[in-house]
Order: sequence, then structure tokens, then C-alpha cells
Amino acid sequence: MTPEPAPTLSQLLAFYLEAGVDCALSEEPVDRLSDSRPTEALKAASVAGEAIAARMLRSAPAPVAPASDPLPAPDAAIATAREAARTASSLEILREMLEKFDGCALKSTATRLVFADGNPNARIMFVGEAPGRDEDIEGLPFVGRSGKLLDRMIAAIGLDRTKVYIANVIPWRPPGNRTPTPQETQICLPFIQRQIELVDPEILVTLGNPSTQTLLSTREGIMKTRGRWLNYDTGTRVIRAMATFHPAYLLRSPSYKRLSWQDLRAISKALAHITS
Ligand code: URA
Repeated sequence: MTPEPAPTLSQLLAFYLEAGVDCALSEEPVDRLSDSRPTEALKAASVAGEAIAARMLRSAPAPVAPASDPLPAPDAAIATAREAARTASSLEILREMLEKFDGCALKSTATRLVFADGNPNARIMFVGEAPGRDEDIEGLPFVGRSGKLLDRMIAAIGLDRTKVYIANVIPWRPPGNRTPTPQETQICLPFIQRQIELVDPEILVTLGNPSTQTLLSTREGIMKTRGRWLNYDTGTRVIRAMATFHPAYLLRSPSYKRLSWQDLRAISKALAHITS
């Protein structure tokens, strides 16, 4: 059988990109082939021939990343998250808890925690889905292209990041920006719920479908939910909530900016009403 030709560098990069690998995880490359397995196998080959080496290669454990504590079962992780979040008496403590929390696999692939940006005393809070690549690098939500659009949307109603609070349902970047699994969302949910409770805004704005469906407990799509006043119940208080399009969606479908402007105007009006 003729061996397949080795892939060219550009083919390899295209393959990585398609698989969702769009940034390096560390500064230095890791030589996964330098573990003891092939060396032992080679030694065996010289002593006892290829057959033994082949058997060793087959039976030896595959090379794996350095051992770390196994993740707890999802139900246990959700229960731990609930318990931890419930006892967080301030946003700082909640952030520390998240830094220490090991129940969500996304933490191990993300560069850092993306907790929040803006003013913790703001009267309005925006919640997106999960950090992307730029947010993962900077440790702040909505700093990439869609973040720039969010800044412009906020500016359009006379606000900026000193007057709003911004967070995500998931505080770690999913690898390759894949959609978070329902389990990952459920594990992170108690933390964002507590974050909303601690910020205690007058108005909560959910950005896009995933954040809306998760926080406002609806199965309806964003086309139906956007622009309507809904209730977000913290358990101790009901907060007025509105869903609107995610800025990343608006970048792809600019014709919906008109509707998002309507939502922003309704939000601005409600804010003015609450102030007076
Ligand atoms: N998209 C999100 O939902 N959140 C971010 O922080 C960035 C992009």
C-alpha cells in the first residue's frame, strides 16, 4: 500500500481551523511524542524484536495531558455551583468562587475567567452567551467585534461601560467558540443568577437566543421574545427584562439593526421612567 503523502502546512492549518482550533493554547509547543512510551517500545524492539515493541505500543496507555483531578459528575457540579453561588455575599466573593470552581470542563481549555465589565452599581445589566477569543485573551466580556457594536448600541442610548454592567451566562470561552452544551450551561447558571441578584439592576437585557432562553426560561426564539417586557425573578425581587438581538447576529444580519434600535429605545424610555 502506498503511504499517503504528508499534509502540507496549509492543509494542516485548514484542518485545524475546521476543527475549531483558532488559537494556540500555550506559548510553547508541547511534544506529545516525547513521553516514555515510544522510547520504551524502541528499547524493547532492539532487545526482543519488533513484535514485542508492537505489542507494547498496542497495550500501552495513549499519551494524555498531565493528570488532573477528574471532573465531578454534572449533577454534583450543579449542586456544588448552587451551594457556592448561594453563599456568595458579594460580587468579589462570587468571582473568587468561580476562580476556584472546578466543576466545569470549559475552565480547563479557557485562558482565563471572563467575569464581568462595567459598573456593579449600574441600573442596567446586559448578559451575553459566552466569551469568544478576544474576551478569553483580555478577561473581559464583549471586547471583540461584537463588543464594539455593543458599545455603539449602548452609546446610542446615551450610556457607556461606566453606566452599565456586562456579563455572560458562561464565564469561560468554549473551545473554538463552539456552542456550550446544556450541561455546561446548567453548571454555570447558578453563578450568573447570583451575579444578577447581587448587581440587582432595574433592567436586565439578554443578548441573543441562548442567554434569553436560559435566563428568561422560554423556549421561544429571539424573533418572538425580543422587544417584549418580561419578568426575571431573582427569588427575592422581580426585575424587568428585555431580550434583544446579540450584536454578533447584527453583524451578520445588519437589517435587524432597525428592530434592535426599537428595543434600545424602549429600554432607554423605561430607564428614564424609573429615574423620574
Ligand atoms: N459574545 C458573547 O456572548 N459574549 C462575549 O463576551 C463576547 C461575544
